[in-house]
Amino acid sequence: MTETQLSYAMRNVPRYTSYPTAPHFHAGVDGNAYSRWLESLTPDDSLSLYLHVPFCREICHYCGCHTKATRQDAPLVAYAKTLSRELELVASHLKASGPVRHIHWGGGTPSLLPEQSLIEIAGMLRVLFNLAPDVEHAIELDPRYVTISLSDTLARIGVNRASLGIQDLDLTVQKAIGRVQSYEVVKTAVSRLRAAGLNDLNFDLMYGLPHQTLRSIRETVARTIELRPGRIALFGYAHVPWMKKHQRLISEDSLPGSAERMELADAARSDLLAAGYRAIGLDHFALPDDSMAIAEEHGELRRNFQGYTTDSGEQLLGFGVSSIGKLSKGYVQNMPDVGHWRRAIEDGELPVARGMELSTDDLLRGRIIEQLMTDYRCDLSATAASFGETPQGLLGSIDALDELVREGFVVVNGWNVQVSAKGRPFVRLAAAAFDAYLEGSSAGTKRHSLAV
Ligand SMILES: C[S@@+](CC[C@H](N)C(=O)[O-])C[C@H]1O[C@@H](n2cnc3c(N)ncnc32)[C@H](O)[C@@H]1O
Ligand code: SF4
Repeated sequence: MTETQLSYAMRNVPRYTSYPTAPHFHAGVDGNAYSRWLESLTPDDSLSLYLHVPFCREICHYCGCHTKATRQDAPLVAYAKTLSRELELVASHLKASGPVRHIHWGGGTPSLLPEQSLIEIAGMLRVLFNLAPDVEHAIELDPRYVTISLSDTLARIGVNRASLGIQDLDLTVQKAIGRVQSYEVVKTAVSRLRAAGLNDLNFDLMYGLPHQTLRSIRETVARTIELRPGRIALFGYAHVPWMKKHQRLISEDSLPGSAERMELADAARSDLLAAGYRAIGLDHFALPDDSMAIAEEHGELRRNFQGYTTDSGEQLLGFGVSSIGKLSKGYVQNMPDVGHWRRAIEDGELPVARGMELSTDDLLRGRIIEQLMTDYRCDLSATAASFGETPQGLLGSIDALDELVREGFVVVNGWNVQVSAKGRPFVRLAAAAFDAYLEGSSAGTKRHSLAV
């Protein structure tokens, strides 16, 4: 198979921000299951909290996130109120739990919540949970709405990491994606955050956008490097207009083809490496002294719904519509509709729509996939042993790696699986060999037994 054929094959392979992936969640897991799982937590279970805010001032044409546009503040205030009640509700189901190591506000644009609401919710987090002294407290920000007052408020409530959506700085590209923000706007946002003491920054960039050229993406990277954020995420634009109708505003003729996409990604990547950033996993870059680069060096990089992370919390609790939580027992996802979510919470019910209980086999395969995605290698025997299992049940997955081995993308040595340097862009295919739920998978028989 050529690299181009492999890149086509990858389109049908998940990004593995969870295993099993979210389409396998089902309504059999409800608020009662979540309540039991929460009650079974112990003081040894450290926590991560994810708070989802599904609002933006306007919707960018490319956006694949769960969010909607609002010009008014009333829905934001009402949402914050319900979010506070959800925090109380979930906390009331915890008999015991360990320290919170990581808080992440995602969206949408969570900083659109009125500053008073942000202050109140952050205060509640301190009252309801035991925050670790070195808790990482991160938020996603839209640079167009970063004021001096917001920056100060964020610092005051303990936020210590911010991620800014940049995407591309070229005006032609920006007009085509419905997101015009000049370099000056970005620079001002960065200086306001830094002046408030918020120094740990991430920039989101994208390749594969309409009208993007090698020249334009390299210029975006060059200007990004001038501002020196500790981390940069470089996402490939996922064009799914059948799921996200507003993406139809992007003309398909203006999109780069798959060979051009690879060239754009390669150009951005080599400029970032030349500027001293280290490549982390599939789509992240970090300066050597950033905690993500350090975590990767120590084999402590993790992968969750936010992508690559240094989050070391063992149990992830999700708040807000559509948020996903992950406990040792399984996944839970909240209702996607604000009205349904609010009604459940007002009735004192956990607003769970669906989820999935995890078997030992799921947990083992999930860990193997995570190790491949983060470390590009896995000792199957050691990982199986950490779940009290032997690796024999993984032989079908090793066979499924054959094609990648022949291509020189993967090396299998006994129970050790290693993704080679040239195989790294295709790591998702190696991960897919261990996915027992994937259509046509030879990783296990689960898919077939489920189908009957
Ligand atoms: C919640 S937004 C970031 C915060 C803020 N809302 C903003 O846009 O500035 C999350 C990120 O997801 C990425 N993203 C959104 N839609 C995408 C798509 N269709 N394909 C790939 N990445 C996408 C963008 O890089 C975006 O910055
Ligand atoms: S990219 Fe960010 S600002 Fe734009 S619509 Fe999506 S979540 Fe909102």
